Amino acid sequence: MSIRKLYIETYGCQMNVVDSEVVVAILQQHQYSLTEDIDEADLVLVNTCSIRDNAEQRVRARLKDFRKLKNKKRPVSVGVIGCMAERVKEQLLEEEPVVDLVVGPDAYRDLPALLQEVESGQKGINTILSLEETYGDIRPVRMDRNHVTSFVAIMRGCNNFCAYCVVPGTRGRERSRDPETILREATDLFSKGYREVTLLGQNVNSYRWKEGKSPLKFEKLLERVAGIDPSFRVRFATSHPKDMSDELLKVIAQYPNLCRSIHLPVQSGSTSVLERMKRRYTREHYMDRIKVIRNYLPDATISTDIIAGFCGETEEEHQQTLSLMKWAKYDFAYMFKYSERPETFAAEKFKDDVSEAVKTRRLSEIIELQSKLSLESKEKDVGQSFEVLVEGTSKKSEEQLYGRTSQNKVVVFPKNDLKPGDYTEVTVSACTSATLIGA
Ligand code: SAH
Ligand code: SF4
Ligand code: F3S
Repeated sequence: MSIRKLYIETYGCQMNVVDSEVVVAILQQHQYSLTEDIDEADLVLVNTCSIRDNAEQRVRARLKDFRKLKNKKRPVSVGVIGCMAERVKEQLLEEEPVVDLVVGPDAYRDLPALLQEVESGQKGINTILSLEETYGDIRPVRMDRNHVTSFVAIMRGCNNFCAYCVVPGTRGRERSRDPETILREATDLFSKGYREVTLLGQNVNSYRWKEGKSPLKFEKLLERVAGIDPSFRVRFATSHPKDMSDELLKVIAQYPNLCRSIHLPVQSGSTSVLERMKRRYTREHYMDRIKVIRNYLPDATISTDIIAGFCGETEEEHQQTLSLMKWAKYDFAYMFKYSERPETFAAEKFKDDVSEAVKTRRLSEIIELQSKLSLESKEKDVGQSFEVLVEGTSKKSEEQLYGRTSQNKVVVFPKNDLKPGDYTEVTVSACTSATLIGA
């Protein structure tokens, strides 16, 4: 069989980035080579996200673009993979005639077989979820640009069933990956020159590998990855506030290469909203966790995710979110308008009753407050120096490089003789709300 060209486009979270790398690895074993030019592709895959309605709309719009590819002389197959494939299933084949192939997140090993069906003129579909699949033995083909920072998936799926969220439906049950394969992959990245890895899972602090009598928990795994080399930085995402333990923070405090930046999505500052969201913690519990983080890691930054306008959210409940943000002084936040998702608990049990206008206004209040907090967080750093891992050349000037501090803040600074992968001490001389500027 001749070599075919695969073009792949990735939407959604970092987990999808890694999944695309797994998919490329699987297909490279089956006569496919990667191309960055969609016009020369024999197979176009789009790895999709379902988290909010607009994520799916973007994919639908992209599928319209792909219709044009099919009018050309070369026969091109189009496949939808990832969370939207899992959620919409065979309906995608009915609604989008351009699509030949639909494959869910746990069925990527079946891609070569499904592609053979597609080649014989049929449509291919597999959306079966698995209780065990972690792709642990597959070495992802890296597609990052900087060759300095990368991701390693340590678990898949989610058992939390937050009322608003599609992920437990699109990714199935939570399962942890064999630690030996995680360590092998991370060590391999380090030996190839990578200097930072982010361990990924929907709820990393519930990582648990059950071999033998005492299961390996997340903090132990983290310790082992941190032990690969002191110059290998380790980050992780996402932690769930209900599982953020003191033991984990104690381990981080012991290793300078475990990064001083904790992403702890709060979603809402109101206990009653959190209860409706089925988040399983209160405002007070969350505040207690922030205090403990600040106690063990006084120099750590804290970031969060916030949803504005969840079902039944009153003005008072919204104010509670703003007041919690001010109290926590978040360094960074991802902020969203609530988007009702089919077949979730909230869609079935609650009314999506906050009007679009109110959601928009509340979200802009949240964004405005966060821009102030983000700026304050950067201003604090002016005059101080930080160890920065160089990632690449700044977009704005060839003479400037950019990198990150352990606190996950982006710094732009003069090139000198530095190159990506180097560590350098940078004194911050100025800042914007997004970037630190080094002298
Ligand atoms: N597992 C992670 C996050 C996964 S999704 C966690 O539990 O924190 C990333 C973020 O998208 C969530 O933290 C939430 O803020 C947002 N999100 C999820 N479902 C949403 C929905 N239906 N509408 C709006 N935002 C949503
Ligand atoms: Fe979704 Fe909640 Fe699981 Fe995060 S923890 S993926 S928000 S269900
Ligand atoms: Fe989206 Fe699936 Fe990630 S819904 S956020 S791509 S887990």
